[in-house]
Amino acid sequence: PRSIFFSRHGESQFNVEGKIGGDSPLSERGMRYARALPALITDNIGDAPLTVWTSTLQRTIQTAQYLPYPKLTWKSLDELDAGVCDGMTYEEIEQAYPEDFANRDEDKFNYRYRGGESYRDVVVRLEPVIMELERQENILIIGHQAILRCLYAYFHDLPQADLPYIKIPLHTVIKLTPKAYGCDEERYTLPI
Ligand code: F6P
Repeated sequence: PRSIFFSRHGESQFNVEGKIGGDSPLSERGMRYARALPALITDNIGDAPLTVWTSTLQRTIQTAQYLPYPKLTWKSLDELDAGVCDGMTYEEIEQAYPEDFANRDEDKFNYRYRGGESYRDVVVRLEPVIMELERQENILIIGHQAILRCLYAYFHDLPQADLPYIKIPLHTVIKLTPKAYGCDEERYTLPI
């Protein structure tokens, strides 16, 4: 049976600083994850073919750089666009846009950042990615928190309201194996 692997990029500079969005490089710790990832994947799938999909942002491309497989970058896999809040910490957002901050808390799935996107928008832009995923064999997606929440919710058929709260930790590979109904799941965390 074919498998779909999900991983967030390794820890980025912005993750360390608590800033959202942006296009920052990996931290030293994130680089260690990038170096450890190939052995985890290869041990898991042996010599079966695999294709790696990343976003166009450097933190996913850096995370994939040592993987000995064909790679494809998708603009549609870029992180949820936080618009005017891009590059800010949650504290800064709460200070600058208190009403928006409250509204997001009220309905996180539908809340759209000023000049940016909502989770609902992201679900729509991921449709072509999902169509292609359904046709492919083994795929590893090196992605972002909000994006992987949407893909994970699709494969596990989880309700929209829960989707923005799904836990997708750093430095963890989630392996989904689709069955007739639903998916089997395994998780592997690298102690980095
Ligand atoms: O902090 C990392 C990050 O991927 C941000 O770039 C993004 O805005 C955020 O997580 C998404 O998580 P949430 O929707 O919970 O704010």
